[in-house]
Amino acid sequence: MSRPILIDTDPGCDDALALLLALERDELDVVGISTVHGNAPVTDTTRNARSLLEFFDRTEISLSKGATLPLTVELETAEHIHGEGGIRGELPEPTSETAPIEGHAAQFIVETAREYEGELTLAAIGPLTNVALALAIEPDLPDLLDELVIMGGAAFTPGNVTPLAEANFHSDPEAAARVVRDAEPTIVGLDVTNAANLPADWIDSLPQESPLGRSIVEWLTYYSGDQLEQYDFETTAIHDALAIAGIVDEGLLETESYHMTVGTDSDIDQGALVCDVNDVTDGEPNGSVALEADFERYRELFTETVDRVVAERGN
Ligand code: RIB
Ligand code: CA
Repeated sequence: MSRPILIDTDPGCDDALALLLALERDELDVVGISTVHGNAPVTDTTRNARSLLEFFDRTEISLSKGATLPLTVELETAEHIHGEGGIRGELPEPTSETAPIEGHAAQFIVETAREYEGELTLAAIGPLTNVALALAIEPDLPDLLDELVIMGGAAFTPGNVTPLAEANFHSDPEAAARVVRDAEPTIVGLDVTNAANLPADWIDSLPQESPLGRSIVEWLTYYSGDQLEQYDFETTAIHDALAIAGIVDEGLLETESYHMTVGTDSDIDQGALVCDVNDVTDGEPNGSVALEADFERYRELFTETVDRVVAERGN
């Protein structure tokens, strides 16, 4: 029995690989995609999501466009990392087949959670603006979901945008603060996703005779040499794909529960994920954080899936 999943995303090179993984695994049934600002403005991330659904030949999946701006801070995007328009690769221009459905993504999230009451996994792999708005529409959202999985945050490791903050949390700290406070998330943050890279020799072995094969390699290598050096990475961290892999294979991630908050008060703490390890506040645990991952299983699952896709459609 496959798990119904709605993916809220800001494609994004690693988002593209996360979507490919989700779409190609029988363990998951992708019932919807919603888009949010983040790696690029929402007009671009929506175009990219539409192009990806057409590229992957999955135009039957409903796509809903979401928030243009963060709740309280200025929009910040990452085309310098993900490429012009927010993504690399040889994507088709979207057609009317993937026109976004009517209404806002926040409403789409609530309606889908109600439709699949108790069964839906919501995977948020971009800034959390849509999820926070969905919570404001329907405060019972956590009870309607089976699980909320978030790629974001940096609990016990440095941030990738500030010394304390990871990009998705930094992009909309107020949204992250509300979602962490109220929605009992499973947080898959930099503590594990920094190591979500794939073996360089496997990447080099991928056939590149087709737009699909070439695009996958571009997404797998989206960090520049300077960025690899800055973060001390051997190859590019595919952050979002690890969050999805943890849903595909429930034994992949080891998590710990804490009372958690997210900083919103100053430039220093904007987007910082704070875990009360020693229970020094009176807060009850309100979510869990992935601290360990079986990277061998992740890489096996990822490479086996991509090898199959490229063999079937990459020629
Ligand atoms: O910090 C990594 C996260 O920020 C990923 O979701 C990536 O796509 C960017 O959105
Ligand atoms: Ca993302």
